[in-house]
Amino acid sequence: MLKVAVLVSGGGSNLQALIDAKQAGNIKNGELALVLSSSADAYALERAKNAGVPTRVCSKKEYRTREEFTDAILGILKEYKIDLVVLAGFMYILSPKFCEEYENRVMNVHPALIPSFCGDGFYGLKVHEKVIASGVKITGATVHFVNSITDGGPIISQGAVPVRFDDTPEILQKRVMAECEWKLLPQAVDLFCQGKLRVVGSRVEILE
Ligand code: GRF
Repeated sequence: MLKVAVLVSGGGSNLQALIDAKQAGNIKNGELALVLSSSADAYALERAKNAGVPTRVCSKKEYRTREEFTDAILGILKEYKIDLVVLAGFMYILSPKFCEEYENRVMNVHPALIPSFCGDGFYGLKVHEKVIASGVKITGATVHFVNSITDGGPIISQGAVPVRFDDTPEILQKRVMAECEWKLLPQAVDLFCQGKLRVVGSRVEILE
């Protein structure tokens, strides 16, 4: 069994999708070994506790620099012998050392179709506001490996949903989550844990 850590900062609906998938037997060779939150009052911690997943809190405020914060997180991940790190609504960008130590072993879910609507400044509802303002008719979500370029690592999977004329950012966010993120992320974790993701340069091959 590979040990999976989920890094969160907020509500944790993607964490819940992972917990549900695990309980349904859909993450076959992986165990949710740790939920690490950047905030002591993230609702994601409640979800983890209800599912019996160990939790830790690591608050950026307690560290002077991004490097020290990243080192503290790396220390905790080593303590739990983590094989795969999943960023699920984690609000901080970690230092390049993190990407190096966990190269092709850190996944993120981004609520748009990369390479559109991504990069610095594209997070949370802002992404959906910009999608609506741009007039595009299709958006979606992307699961990708994390490298030192924000939202720039190899893409694992993508899903699409329509943008409707009367959408608000909140309505669109919910559609992207329910129809894309909550499905794609557990599937990607399952594939990783079964050794079915192979990174070749900037592309990911899904092995049969
Ligand atoms: C999701 O939209 C995810 O794509 C983004 O942050 C949000 C997290 O939501 N990276 P939740 O905490 O999983 O509910």
